[in-house]
Parts: sequence; C-alpha cells; structure tokens
Amino acid sequence: MRILSWRLILALTIGLSLVSLASSWYEIRAQRNALRRDLDSKAETVSDNLAATAEFYLANGNHDGLQKLVELSGKRDHLVGLGIYGRDDSALALTPGLNGSLPVLTQLLKNAMQDNRDISIFTELRFKRVHLLAAPLQANNKTVIGALLVVHDSGYIDTETFRIWGHLFLRMAIQVLVIVTITLLIIRWSLTGPVARVAVWMRALRTGQDAVPPSATDLDFLLPLAREVGPLAESMQRARSAAETEAGLRNANESQWTAQRLADHVRNRLGKSNLFVVSNREPYIHARRDNTVAVTVPASGLVTALEPILCACNGTWIAHGSGDADAETVDAHDHLKVPPEDPRYTLRRVWLSREQEEGYYYGFANEGLWPLCHIAHTRPIFRASDWEHYYAVNRKFADALIQEIGSEENPVVLIQDYHFALLPRMLKDRIPNARVAIFWHIPWPTPEAFEICPWQRELLDGLLGADLIGFHVRAHCNNFLNTVDRILESRVDWEHFSVKRNNHFTSVLPFPISVELPCDIPEARSNLSAQEERSLLFAELGIEATFLGIGIDRVDYTKGIIERFQAVESFLERYPGYQGKFTFIQIGAPSRTHIKRYADFQSEVEAEANRINARFRYGRWKPIVFLNRQHDRHQLEHYYRAAHICMVTSLHDGMNLVAKEYIAARQDEHGVLILSRFTGAARELHDAIIVNPYDVSATGESIAEALKMDPSEIVERMRRMRRSVKEHNIYWWAASLIGALCELRLDSIGDAKSTAPERVLVVK
Ligand code: G6P
Repeated sequence: MRILSWRLILALTIGLSLVSLASSWYEIRAQRNALRRDLDSKAETVSDNLAATAEFYLANGNHDGLQKLVELSGKRDHLVGLGIYGRDDSALALTPGLNGSLPVLTQLLKNAMQDNRDISIFTELRFKRVHLLAAPLQANNKTVIGALLVVHDSGYIDTETFRIWGHLFLRMAIQVLVIVTITLLIIRWSLTGPVARVAVWMRALRTGQDAVPPSATDLDFLLPLAREVGPLAESMQRARSAAETEAGLRNANESQWTAQRLADHVRNRLGKSNLFVVSNREPYIHARRDNTVAVTVPASGLVTALEPILCACNGTWIAHGSGDADAETVDAHDHLKVPPEDPRYTLRRVWLSREQEEGYYYGFANEGLWPLCHIAHTRPIFRASDWEHYYAVNRKFADALIQEIGSEENPVVLIQDYHFALLPRMLKDRIPNARVAIFWHIPWPTPEAFEICPWQRELLDGLLGADLIGFHVRAHCNNFLNTVDRILESRVDWEHFSVKRNNHFTSVLPFPISVELPCDIPEARSNLSAQEERSLLFAELGIEATFLGIGIDRVDYTKGIIERFQAVESFLERYPGYQGKFTFIQIGAPSRTHIKRYADFQSEVEAEANRINARFRYGRWKPIVFLNRQHDRHQLEHYYRAAHICMVTSLHDGMNLVAKEYIAARQDEHGVLILSRFTGAARELHDAIIVNPYDVSATGESIAEALKMDPSEIVERMRRMRRSVKEHNIYWWAASLIGALCELRLDSIGDAKSTAPERVLVVK
C-alpha cells in the first residue's frame, strides 16, 4: 500500500479512537455515578427500615434486642455489616464483619450525631472499597441518643465499570475497523479509480493519441481540473505540431512563416519594445445569455488575421468593449487575458457611450467611410454630428493607448482600419518616438470618389501622422498617393512610395493579408472525406443533393450575395440537368443590422433566396439554403471541406479572407474557388475562376465550369493556390508589416529611401 494510504489509515484510526474514547469516558462516568446513587439509596432504605426499631430498643436499653436486630438484618446483597452505637460512640450491637473500631468510623458517627443528619461516604476499609452511611437515632423528644451504621461493599461498582470499559473497547475497535475500511473503499471507487482513468486520458492527450475523455461520473469533482486539461492539451498539441512543422521546414530547407518564426522575428525586431494593436472590433465578446456569460469570436476578417499574431507576440490589443457582459469580465484596469481557454496576450477594452457608438461606428465609419471606400453603389452619408463623435472616439482610443504604453520608450503600434484614421496623428503628436503603422483593411477609392467626403483633409492628415500606411494591394496604395497628391500640400515620392508632409515621412506600401496555413487549429483536423462531410451536412439540413456550393460572408451589400444567388439561378436555368442536384448554402452572419441599409439588405437577400427556391425547389431538394446566423471557425471548416465550389463574389473587397480560408481548409487539394475580380485576393489567386459578379450569366457559367472541371486540373489549381497562401500566410504578412515598420528611420527629415519599399515584401 502506498504511503498516502498508510497515513490515511493511521490518521483515521487515531482520530476515531480519540473520539470514541472521549465519548466512552462520558458514558462510563454516567453509569458509575448511577451505580453509586443506587447504592446510596439502598443504604438509606436499610437505615430507614431499622431506625424505628433500633430507637425503641435503644431508648429502653434493650441491648439484646439491638444485637438481634443487626444480626437479622445484616444479611443482604453487598451488605458488609450493621452497627448501632451509643451517644458516646460505644458500639452497642455489631454484625461480625464490623468488629474493632476504626477512626474513620468514629469520626463519621460523631459527625452524624452532632449534625443530626445522615452522612454517607465511599471509602476504603481494611483494603476493601466500601460505602458507609451513618444515621442518627433519636429518642421520642428528638434528642440524639445514638447512631446506626450501614456498611456496603462498593467493589462491584469498579468491577462493573471495568466490564463496561472492556465492552466499549471492543465496540470501538470494530467501529474503527469498519469506518477505515469503508473510507478506503470510497476513496478507491470515487478518487483513486477516476484519478487513474483521468491520468490515462491525460497521458493519451500528452502523447497525441486518440483520447476518449473519462465519463461524467468519473470527472464529477475533477471537473474543474478536466476543464483546464483540454486547453492545456490543445496548446501542447499546437506547440508540438508547430515544432514538427518547424523541423519539417528546416529539413526541407523551406523558409515558410510560422507562429514560432514570427514570434522570434518580432522579438528580434522589437528589441525591448512592445507591440500594441488597436482595432474597433474586439477578438472576444462576452454577452449575457440566459443568466450565463457566453464568449463569442466575431465574424471579422480583421480578427481572424490578427489573433494569431497577438498570440505569437504576446502584445496588447486595445479594442471597443461591445458585449453586454464585457465589463464584468475585465479587471480594474479594463484588462483581460485571452484567448480565454489559453491566455496568450492582453485585451484592453475601451468603453463607448451609446451616442458615441452610434455616431462614430454606425454613423461615420459604416455609413460614411465604408460606402465611400467600397464602390458598391451605396451612397455614403456624412453627418457633422457623426464626425464629432468619430473625432472624440479617436481621441479616447489615443488616451487609452497612451495609458497602455505608459513609460515605454519606443513602442510599436499597429492601428487597424477605417475606424481610426485620426489616431496616428493624435498618437504621434504625443509620443513622437512611437513607431506607428495603420493598416487599411478596405479598398482606397480614386481621388474623385474620395473627394466627396467633407472631412477629406482631416482624414488624410490624420493618416499621414503614421510612419507607415498599409493597404492590401498596390492599386489601393496608388489611389491613396494620388488622393494625397491632389488634396493636400505634400510631396509624394512615387519612386519610394512615400509622402513627405511637414518634415515627416510616411511610407505607403502593400501588404496582402492572409490566413494561417498550414492550419494550426486542432479542431480543423478531420478524418472525414469531402463526400462524408457533404452527406453529414445535407442530412443535418434535411435536403437531398449531390453537388454543393458555399458562400460565407457577413450580410453586407458589398459582398455580392444577391448577384451570387442570381448566378445560381442563371446556372440552373441554363443547365437544368443540375436541378435537383446542385445546392448552394449561403452562410450569412448578421452584421451592422442597426443600420437601415444593412437591415434592408438582409431582407432583400432572404427575399431573393425565397424567390429562387420557390421557382425551382421540389421534393427534398432546393437550390439555395440561407443560414442567417454566425458560425464559429470549427463549424465553418466542415462547410469548407464539404463544398465542391466556394463562391466569393464581392462587388468590391480589400482582400477577402474567405477565399483564402477555403484554400487553407482544403488539405485534400480538392474544391474550386470562384472569385470576384474586384477582391484583393484575385490579384494573388490566379488559379481561381475569376468572375465579374455584375455579369450574372457569366458567373452562372463559372459554376458549370467548376463542376465540370477535370479532377486533375482541380487538384493542380488548388495545389498552386495552397502553395501561394502557404508562402504568403498571415505570419508572413505580420512579419512584413512589422519588419517594414521597424526598418523605418523615424527622424523627421530622414531619408525616404531608408523605407526600402521593395525590400519590405521579400521578407524571407
Ligand atoms: C471588415 C472590416 C473590419 C471589420 C469587419 C467586420 O472586415 O475591415 O474592420 O471588423 O469588416 O465588421 P464589424 O463592423 O462587425 O466589425
């Protein structure tokens, strides 16, 4: 038996014995007192019975009568002897056992006669334990004329006490034995057994084998531990697979970017500086649902791209706390360590009032700048009140950022997107030593389009506070430089893609954003074939079909969702053989529904899906399934892996990461991507079928082309696209951006050449 068990047995035995001893002692004491009281009253009864006759004989001097009386009465249970004494203590009549006088008796008789009351004691008489009772004898006039002595043997009380002790000891020993045995069995059943099974499970996780978690009963009180084990195993698996990837790449002499390589690179580049990222959208939103707090990852390409970087670099991400339970989950400094299941970096939440969110986010950013930058024929709305909120919120984020930076001397700051055009200037004015980049995740329009914005100069000036401005593609950089050239007093250096304004240089460079590949997400691994994934999905949705097309977007009017549905309609019209066979699943995460244009658009999408379904559907088949809800990354992987084709038909898009996520998910090298030429991704993914989404019938034709494509061509195209995404993955993007930012010379009249734009994109 193990030491722990012995210790437990010893502790239980000592503990239980002490408790039993204490309670036995109380019990025995009570019994002993009861026996003594019993003897006392027995002696009193003897005395009472004899007193009247003894007093009569004594008063009449009848000593023979007295002697007979004691001899007759002296033969009772435990009675050792009786004696009658005169007023001068002289013995007048005694039973044989009481011969001889003893000081203790003399004193007792004296006291009883003197006090004229019964006196009893337990004592030892000639080595025997006895009970003595002395009772005064009175004449008719109540004067004391003598005393009666009753002597009982009290030794049986001790014998009885010992007997009870023996009995209790036996009972105690049996009790201790039974309790110790039961305790050991309980421990074995509910602790040792489950712990052993949990240990087997943990070992399997550790060694990367298929691990079936123990049953709920096994986990029971080990549940808090089990909750920690899953993420722990996951991060170990990640670390292991990252190490394997690294080793594989080293062996193959490939220079692919990985999380580990990025972390090393960034640490090298940053030196003692820390990385700060600012975005409007936070990576984790805490929201109340039925009295519990649920955490969700929002549908945002920006979040998808930045999360792996922050995990790799352990920086600080400052973002708007938009969840209704966000405030409950931060500490006193509005900080939270995330990802929740495996904390790797700090999220700092910034709080906005309803009016601020309304004016800055819904108003200026999404009703103004978003349609201004996306040529999707939705008119931008500019309100002066929205602009004021936009300005104030940029200022608020600048304050939060400065607070986070604290006394850091050379912080590196990556600002994200069109929500913060004013922030670079605000920050740089207060911390000139900060290296500041802003990445614009959406397109930049032509100068003519941008010029309609009433605050065009302020926006450009704010942006030019940055040392580096990044866009996805060269065309957006050119549009930006042209816009600056036309609107602001500045010098645009077309050779080095930089702007000099008020003695400050800003580099303007393309950094095409990407996703993780190889995919490091454990839940992205699957043993199912595309065919099996498809059958599962169709069964889940209750439809019958053979071919599957998917689209995954936020429900946004720039995504070309209606044009996509119409292309499906056109395809089914032109190729009726696919009716009953081809189903298109559109996952549409609700987005910005607070804005009328978005709410209207959502209804339009639903109406269009219903119209086309009504036209073609029959039996258990329908052409379009519109799933208007957010899916997590894990769920999306199933759709990506199941689909014959993925359609990305944005009317205008900075990059579009869905296209790259689809490629990353296709480890089987199958699947065809249909991609709008108006996305940034179309500049890299030449093996997609490139379409103009406005040309509905040509897009419909591309569906037929994809479904009929020779399998070997599908594999070849997918292989090439995977190679491209692998080479230019998200870590490459981050390394290029951070590398370029860290290479810049910050002195105001610095040499613009030092930005070396061409070098930036060849980070290896
Ligand atoms: C685009 C923007 C992101 C934004 C995302 C989701 O990808 O470039 O900045 O986070 O849309 O939109 P939302 O308004 O929900 O953040």
